[in-house]
Order: sequence, then C-alpha cells, then structure tokens
Amino acid sequence: MGQKETFLGGEADRFFGRNRGIYDGESGYSQSYSVEPTLLRMGIRPRSILEIGCSNGWRLASLRDKFPDARLAGLEPSQEAVEAGKARWGLDLRVGTADELPFHDGEFDLVIFGGCLYLCDRADLFRIAWQADRVLADTGFVCLWDYASKVPYANAYSHRDGLRSFKMDYPSMFLWNPDYWMVALDPAGGIKDSPDDRMVVALLRKQRETAWPPNPWTRSP
Ligand SMILES: C[S@@+](CC[C@H](N)C(=O)[O-])C[C@H]1O[C@@H](n2cnc3c(N)ncnc32)[C@H](O)[C@@H]1O
Repeated sequence: MGQKETFLGGEADRFFGRNRGIYDGESGYSQSYSVEPTLLRMGIRPRSILEIGCSNGWRLASLRDKFPDARLAGLEPSQEAVEAGKARWGLDLRVGTADELPFHDGEFDLVIFGGCLYLCDRADLFRIAWQADRVLADTGFVCLWDYASKVPYANAYSHRDGLRSFKMDYPSMFLWNPDYWMVALDPAGGIKDSPDDRMVVALLRKQRETAWPPNPWTRSP
C-alpha cells in the first residue's frame, strides 16, 4: 500500500487530530505559515484558488479576507478536516489527493501546494505536476509551501512505521519546464537552525504562450 492509500485510509484524519489545535487556534501558526505576504508583495490578484493538501482550509479562509471575490476550493485526504472546514467556513473542500484533481482544465489561476508534497508517493510526482499544470490556466501561478532541500533525502515518518517524509527541491518539479519561471522565493516559518526544518514559499508563474519564441537563428516558425 502506498502513502496515498494510507493517508486516505485514516492517517490523514490522525494527522488532523494531532494538529487541529494549531489549525483552529490562536497559536500564530497561520501567521508564520501564511503565503499571503508573498502573494501581496508580488501584486497577485487571483480570481480562483485551489489549495492541495489544505487540511481544514484555514489558509483558504484567511485568503478569503484578502481576495473576497476569488473562488476558493481545497482538496485534502482527511474526511474529518474537510468536514470541519466546511462547517466552520462554508468552504468548497473535497476529499482527495494531489495526483487526481477533480477539477476541469484551466479552472484556477492560483494552485497552492499546502505542505503535502513531502508526504506524497515518489512514483506520483510526475502525475502530481501534470495534474496541477492541467487545472492551472496559462499565466496563472503555482505557490509551493513546502521543504526545498537541494539534496533529496527521506526521514522515517515519526507517527507511523513504514511511512516516510521526503525532502527535496519541490519547485524543480515545475522549473525544468520553460513554461514556468520563479517569481519569488521566501523563507516560511521564520529562521530554522536545522536544515531539515527549513521551508519555503515559492511562487512560480506559468507562461506557456510566451515561453516559446521563434527560433532566433532561423526566425521560424
Ligand atoms: C503539513 S499538513 C499541511 C496542512 C495545511 N495545508 C497547512 O499548511 O497547515 C499536510 C497535509 O497534506 C495532506 N496530504 C497527505 N498526503 C496527501 C496527498 N497525497 N495529497 C494531498 N494532500 C495530502 C495531509 O493530510 C495534511 O493535511
């Protein structure tokens, strides 16, 4: 069984149970792990936002204050988190995983990965990037809130035997492709002594139409 099935089969509910205090409460967690400063600094005005791995949707709820006209949607494997967020904020949250997005092509102009990539099965990474690209409109943005170690490695997941937390340079899932470029890269969650704890907010822009100018030597096509 992969990590995806384990999370869908109850591990995501346990994750939410352990952390709901910080997602619900006044701990300051939402301030430290907000993506809003990056979006606002870069002048992004999204009209439709999807957060993948959104838990109870606290980040979407806070984005609603800044972008009141934007359509918001979230996807999360924890049924309990989804129900809690729907009840509290009336958000459009759905149960599911990053490799299979139940949305139409080009439906969003901002897709946020909310710290879920480090938990995803390695064999799903290409599919996950493809799905995000599929639902993202051209000229839209991907915002990755996650680890960004230049060196890939795995930790044992401390809450359940057999699972792992994977650290790697997640923006590189998109940046190999000329359609995407890095708009901003900020530290997330303050200064961390251990490189293992360091997270980033990476904002990437998709610009397919302008990524492929005519051949500069032959001027074709
Ligand atoms: C570190 S939490 C982050 C929650 C919230 N987005 C935040 O920033 O506080 C990671 C979330 O990813 C979810 N997750 C785990 N595997 C996933 C997958 N394959 N696809 C999408 N989300 C997943 C977990 O259930 C958990 O809610």
